[in-house]
Amino acid sequence: MRIGLIGSGNMARALAVGWDRPVTCSALEIEQAKALAALVGGTAAASNSEVAANSDLVILCHKPKQLEEVAAEIAGQTTLLLSILAGVTVEQLRAAYPNARVFRIMPNLAVEIAQATIGIVDDDAGDPELFAEVVALLAELGDVVPINETDFAVLTGISGVGPAYLALVAQKQVEAAVAEGMDEATAKVLVGSTLKGSSALLVARSNDSEQICREVATPGGVTEKGLAALSNPLGEGFKAAMDAVLGRSK
Ligand SMILES: NC(=O)c1ccc[n+]([C@@H]2O[C@H](COP(=O)([O-])OP(=O)(O)OC[C@H]3O[C@@H](n4cnc5c(N)ncnc54)[C@H](OP(=O)(O)O)[C@@H]3O)[C@@H](O)[C@H]2O)c1
Repeated sequence: MRIGLIGSGNMARALAVGWDRPVTCSALEIEQAKALAALVGGTAAASNSEVAANSDLVILCHKPKQLEEVAAEIAGQTTLLLSILAGVTVEQLRAAYPNARVFRIMPNLAVEIAQATIGIVDDDAGDPELFAEVVALLAELGDVVPINETDFAVLTGISGVGPAYLALVAQKQVEAAVAEGMDEATAKVLVGSTLKGSSALLVARSNDSEQICREVATPGGVTEKGLAALSNPLGEGFKAAMDAVLGRSK
């Protein structure tokens, strides 16, 4: 399947690197598209129209506010689309692309290493075979989670934004270590390695976070004190972050 990317920014690059196959891509600044084509192979297109003409599947990787202007260029030329545009509903996509099959997905940056979480609206519009084909293509990049569109904004607030949240957690832990005199490079290695092992453990333990907390936190020990200090601010912080994301993307 020939893949075309409208936009050659962060997410387009991560998708193309994860799939590790040539793409046709565009950007407002052609130099950005050329850089992506040079990275993964393929062609930097001079226009969105050229992307559509040379692709079996077009992926919308521009910003959500550019939906209408891009659709005005390619809606007549493409029959199969994936949209990663945060907050743009299936209904809006179908209105912009009335003659195409459009799937709404929400990947995260970990597509780059084929370890992403990818939400897809479980609306196959009467074509389960095509839906399965799209899911299989996405499964090359990580875990695909079909989900009702009513839950899509919350999914965005968990997995779409997740890599940035964990990166922030890492940054704050490093800052706390550096404030105690550890050199930054050592702190980064320790934090990164701890996050990697801890996420793998969480998944291996069927996401039983409470049991893991119990096993690490010896009664009266240092973890118990650390958890007590973190629990409330972290809970309130993530609630506020979810509110902020829902306010923007609903
Ligand atoms: N970043 C993430 O982790 C993430 C996660 C999930 C979903 N998303 C979604 O992914 C989309 C892209 O996000 P991003 O972070 O990759 O943004 P980005 O780095 O700013 O990339 C946007 C790209 O779209 C191009 N573009 C702008 N207008 C265009 C047009 N009219 N025709 C063709 N290309 C155009 C830009 O080109 P120029 O730079 O030349 O202007 C740029 O290459 C957004 O809709 C976002 O909601 C992002």
